[in-house]
Amino acid sequence: MTTTTGNDLFRLASRTSRMHASDIREILKVTSRPEVISLAGGLPAPELFPVDRIRRAFESVLARDGQVALQYGPSEGYQPLRELVAARLTSLGVPAASTNVLVINGSQQGLDLVAKLFLDPGDAVLCENPTYLGAIQAFDSYEARYVIAPMDDDGMQTGVLDALLADRAVKFIYALPNFQNPSGRTLSAARRRALVETARRHGVPIVEDDAYGELRFEGEPLPSLRSLWPEGVIYLGTFSKILAPGFRLAWAVIPDALYDRFVLAKQPADLHTAMVTQMAAHEVASDSDAMAEHIDRLRDVYRSRRDTMLRALGEWFPPGCRWTHPQGGLFIWADLPAAINTRELLAEAIENHVAFVPGQAFHADGSGSNTMRLNFSNVTPDRIEEGVMRLGKAIATRLGAR
Ligand SMILES: Cc1ncc(COP(=O)(O)O)c(C=O)c1O
Repeated sequence: MTTTTGNDLFRLASRTSRMHASDIREILKVTSRPEVISLAGGLPAPELFPVDRIRRAFESVLARDGQVALQYGPSEGYQPLRELVAARLTSLGVPAASTNVLVINGSQQGLDLVAKLFLDPGDAVLCENPTYLGAIQAFDSYEARYVIAPMDDDGMQTGVLDALLADRAVKFIYALPNFQNPSGRTLSAARRRALVETARRHGVPIVEDDAYGELRFEGEPLPSLRSLWPEGVIYLGTFSKILAPGFRLAWAVIPDALYDRFVLAKQPADLHTAMVTQMAAHEVASDSDAMAEHIDRLRDVYRSRRDTMLRALGEWFPPGCRWTHPQGGLFIWADLPAAINTRELLAEAIENHVAFVPGQAFHADGSGSNTMRLNFSNVTPDRIEEGVMRLGKAIATRLGAR
């Protein structure tokens, strides 16, 4: 891991000392070698990108409306896309008016904007343990502190929230209720209500990061946090997992009282999101039948890959290992016996041409040295089977060697 602490020639801002190269980016350099079975990344299956439809959409937008598509546009986003996103979300149980929708460059930009608006150095974010690494990176660059809520199979444990929110430095709660990255866990309905009730009572807003909500393979959808508290929840969604991450297109649904602040935070970052991509994505997504069919296909493929991985884990991981059973999304999370350090295991795994992400990086408190994140969306079933077998054998050897 490299740390940026300034350099000999120039004096950088002190916050750069919190900027680290991500474990995942480092691992992805190795995993681009074709002989390595990578269960490490968080990438969608590229063979499922609707490339032809997207190509036709760009062509028709440029032919029909090229001058608008290539011009500067409004910071809030392309109005027909804001309307489409609002209608889609409302039909999915996330109430939104177009005036609440801000189009952003990936939901990653939403995390940066939230941090920019809420965090002074030393302020705290209440987050799940583990949580999304990209969020930790975004919040770190605003010098955040973390207040950690433990998790179990029902997601964030809400019984401790009252005590945690006694820390008045907590400016917002960062929650991933559906098929969390990295753990694959889903927050139960009762805990959703408890989370919102407690946050509301303490006057602390919630950032609901829902990158995977539409990728549910089993079970019934649960109420969005935003539906339970529209005035206090900033909701983030994205085209990255349901169309293609290369669009870098996502949306924040923002309570009325905060909306203008977000626009003011986005303007100095990039003025606005590219019109041509917004218009092409609008063209693709406004065919709602084709979109529904496409998402059904993603669910089918990912469900079957998840099932393959669950079966292989049952067969190859030794006793003492536990793993989650995600109802959607892209990841399974494994807890290994405490004797296994997954960073050390990774070095050995890579020699055996298989990669995963050691779980410690997802823990804002530095715990989790015996955990790992496994991705099933970007690997074919035969390689999932083979990769899990190699990992299981490496774990068994380490345990046997003790
Ligand atoms: C939980 C979560 N939030 C946000 C993002 C960022 O997504 P994007 O910027 O592509 O919308 C990701 C990407 O993997 C994610 O897993």
